[in-house]
Amino acid sequence: MVNDVQASIRVRSVSKRYPGGTKALKKVELEIGPGLFGLLGPNGAGKSTLMRIICTLLEPSEGRVEVCGFDTVGQRAAVRRRVGYLPQEFGAWRLQRVEEVLDTLARLSGLADRRLRRERIEHALGAVGLESVAQRKVKKLSGGMLRRLGVAQALLADPPVLVVDEPTVGLDPEERIRFRQLMADLGHDRVILLSTHIVADLGAGCGQVALLDRGEIVFQGSPSRLVAAARGRVFEVEPRLASAEGLEEVSRTASMARVVLIDGAPPDGAREIDEPTLEEAYLAFMARRGGHGSILEEVS
Ligand SMILES: Nc1ncnc2c1ncn2[C@@H]1O[C@H](COP(=O)(O)OP(=O)(O)OP(=O)(O)O)[C@@H](O)[C@H]1O
Ligand SMILES: [Mg+2]
Repeated sequence: MVNDVQASIRVRSVSKRYPGGTKALKKVELEIGPGLFGLLGPNGAGKSTLMRIICTLLEPSEGRVEVCGFDTVGQRAAVRRRVGYLPQEFGAWRLQRVEEVLDTLARLSGLADRRLRRERIEHALGAVGLESVAQRKVKKLSGGMLRRLGVAQALLADPPVLVVDEPTVGLDPEERIRFRQLMADLGHDRVILLSTHIVADLGAGCGQVALLDRGEIVFQGSPSRLVAAARGRVFEVEPRLASAEGLEEVSRTASMARVVLIDGAPPDGAREIDEPTLEEAYLAFMARRGGHGSILEEVS
């Protein structure tokens, strides 16, 4: 790993306007240190845009980003040596074997020495637990394995900063648990910036979260602070009452539903939940902003 004093990402007043006029980011400020950092936000919030700027694939329209102290525009090569990136749509390469994919990507990233490449590939496959499928064709991997292959390629150069964009979409519950564990393990000595709208996938290992809503950071802090902000807004009600005005349903069983109160008073018989989950807190926060933060279809 490149040895810097401390791995970090600093986003300073970053705005991004796409050709055509979409303002995808508005004066975004973030300070990210070692550990797992969750970037939450509904579709179109600007998560991928921010991540592409951090990885030097896009330039900000205003403001600047530093990765481990290096500027993503002026010192692009230094930043690239320190960042591993798993893009949202990593899934090409279907006909190749796992090891071939990694070898090609390692060569593209400038690792010319064959022996060194083998070493790095073995290390990356080991880190994500894919050693046993090194010879398997990519199209025969499960969704979870494909995501882990994506992480393996991001780890090839053993970077101190890892940026992973919606890595858990399409995974089954078991794969999600494994992935969460993998992120927690990798986060011990790196910065991991992970975007998701499946809040539960951040897991207990997540130290900080930021909420991005229509290009603006509307919250940054610990998950417990976000949960604290939702107290008094999450209730258990009879299922037939869950669709009442002013409520947003989060989950239900046959006998009860959990809802977030958006406005007005809770319905008769509602029981306040003392310890809302992080996704309930996220929903409550977004709903109060009049956001469109629907994660309902993802909550089981
Ligand atoms: N290349 C582009 N050209 C023009 N507009 C774009 C481009 N990429 C993204 N946008 C717009 O910028 C905004 C932010 O998009 P972005 O992909 O960053 O959001 P996101 O939070 O990653 O969404 P999702 O959860 O769907 O992945 C959206 O309004 C999107 O339509
Ligand atoms: Mg995205």
